[in-house]
Amino acid sequence: MAEDPAQTDVVTMEKIVSLCKRRGFVFPSSEIYGGLGSSYDYGHYGVLLKNNVKNQWWRAMLQERDDVVALDSAIIQHPRTWEASGHLAGFTDPLVDCRTCKLRFRADKLEDSQCGRKPSKHPGETPDCDLTEARDFNLMFQTTVGPVKEEGSTVYLRPETAQGIFLNFKNYLQFSRKKPPFGIAQIGKSFRNEITTGNFIFRTREFEQMEMEFFVPPDEAATWHQHWLAERMAWWTSLGLRPDHLQLRAHDAGELSHYSSATSDVEYLFPIGWSELEGIANRGDFDLTQHAKFSGQKLEYVDTATGERYVPHVIEPAAGVDRAMLAFLVDAYDEDEIEGERRTVLRLHPVLAPVKVAVLPLVRKDGQPELATEVYRELRDHVQAEYDEGGAIGRRYRRQDEIGTPWAVTIDHQSLEDRTVTLRDRDSLGQVRLPIGELVDVIRGRLGEPWRSPKLDA
Ligand code: GAP
Repeated sequence: MAEDPAQTDVVTMEKIVSLCKRRGFVFPSSEIYGGLGSSYDYGHYGVLLKNNVKNQWWRAMLQERDDVVALDSAIIQHPRTWEASGHLAGFTDPLVDCRTCKLRFRADKLEDSQCGRKPSKHPGETPDCDLTEARDFNLMFQTTVGPVKEEGSTVYLRPETAQGIFLNFKNYLQFSRKKPPFGIAQIGKSFRNEITTGNFIFRTREFEQMEMEFFVPPDEAATWHQHWLAERMAWWTSLGLRPDHLQLRAHDAGELSHYSSATSDVEYLFPIGWSELEGIANRGDFDLTQHAKFSGQKLEYVDTATGERYVPHVIEPAAGVDRAMLAFLVDAYDEDEIEGERRTVLRLHPVLAPVKVAVLPLVRKDGQPELATEVYRELRDHVQAEYDEGGAIGRRYRRQDEIGTPWAVTIDHQSLEDRTVTLRDRDSLGQVRLPIGELVDVIRGRLGEPWRSPKLDA
């Protein structure tokens, strides 16, 4: 029988949370005030990792294609946007309150919740539970524009980046000289007043999305949907996620969003089980038709040569940056033993690793720090590098392993004699000696090579 991949992993969510805090990837937000549930701040290495994820997404969407263009739209948009999109009426969760323990639960998730008084029971299961009727609760955060709260001043923080793209469809037809099939991509913050948060950065109220709306002739929508399912799966695996921890799952009819005629989720086997990483939806002409109706503008493509006109259909790959980062961390986390000592290592794909190369003088004397600084300055012009001279060399290696640095350059007494250094590999632990003058090319060459998670061969 095939091994269950979840059973063979050493990683747990607790280990990821602890490493992220210890090594400065992610901190609970507002900690000095006791924290704010489900809000997180990204530390130095978290910022670098997140930026690398986003850069790889831009690379796949823009640099490697001719048919996608970029956008960065506003977070606060005209409130009619959310009437047209259906979010004002339909972006809700059903909630019940317990009059006894004063807690609030999702009515459709009572069996996943714990009673406030008796955590071994679900809400409603004890004689003391006194639940209200279910009420719909809108997930959009509201605020007001201008100093006075008056009629018409209510606006919303966007719950998805997608609508900003539909609002700009007309601009893009005019300036970009694109015609369907073509896409508009954007990365940005979205906000949802989620009732059930938790599981670290998997589900938060403030998060980043990477979304692309691909506008196609209506009769090509099904084919393009298949195209984007394959493209997106290939992207996740090209960045190292193990294929046996990834799956595509088609939504059944009852699960589809109000705008979608077909959606498949890319799911990853997180420590909490198989969960959504990205949704790839066929949104049909729902959004452009709705915005045309609510704005009174024509949102259609007109072929000037043939006179043909139509409202394009839309294929949407929509992924979360924070969730992507969590998946990459979980997939990379590993533990092994070196010379009898336990090691924690992030086996991240080198292009995602926050730091590509660490430069370490063996000792803090004999001219080694000076030469190491020279090497570091040369390397940092080309890749994200780090210099570290403090503490025993083994501990410095271990620190770099924990943040996922794929290579370490060590300067020793021989380096001062012949200007050679050792280059250590995070995964194989192999060390090669090479001239300082070759370092940049070797590291750049390795960064461009195809990569496969060593965990697959463990
Ligand atoms: N425009 C379509 C859309 O927003 P979605 O499935 O609701 O679709 C897309 O969101 C992706 O955004 C999800 O697959 C997930 O990765 C991420 N996402 C959604 N809600 C999130 C939350 N509360 N916290 C973190 N990521 C979230």
